[in-house]
Amino acid sequence: MQTQARLIELPTIRDERGALTFLDEWNQVPFEMKRIYYLYDIGTGSKRGGHAHLKMEQILIALSGSFLVRVHDGKKWEEFSLSYPYVGLYIPSMNWREIINFSSGSVCLSIVSTEYSEEDYIRDFSLFCQGF
Ligand code: TYD
Repeated sequence: MQTQARLIELPTIRDERGALTFLDEWNQVPFEMKRIYYLYDIGTGSKRGGHAHLKMEQILIALSGSFLVRVHDGKKWEEFSLSYPYVGLYIPSMNWREIINFSSGSVCLSIVSTEYSEEDYIRDFSLFCQGF
């Protein structure tokens, strides 16, 4: 059975000074972490993503603000609303993702399993659907 996109609640330590959230490869992250990048200064109405990956697996976290992630697994769409810095969305390889409805000032952290390679991207939705 193909792995599904899913939300992962991340361990958080809260005290009077604030909150600290952590994740590691052995407990919360189901892949070897190779690269991080983050989206910010996102204009109103902007849409990010719009692609799938042949190999890359990913975790997205709304470090600040909120946005909606639409994921297609080759059969159906699923929507995930991200707005808490202690919740990650795991997206397996071969899942199409679109990120929309960014609130003002939002920051999207992305932790991924591979080095950057344009060859790993599928940027044509119909081509992506043909892979199933
Ligand atoms: P892309 O992955 O299409 O952005 P998003 O999915 O967030 O909308 O990447 C946008 C551009 O940045 C594209 O030209 C590739 C480049 N890029 C890198 O050079 N290195 C990276 O690690 C990433 C994620 C993107």
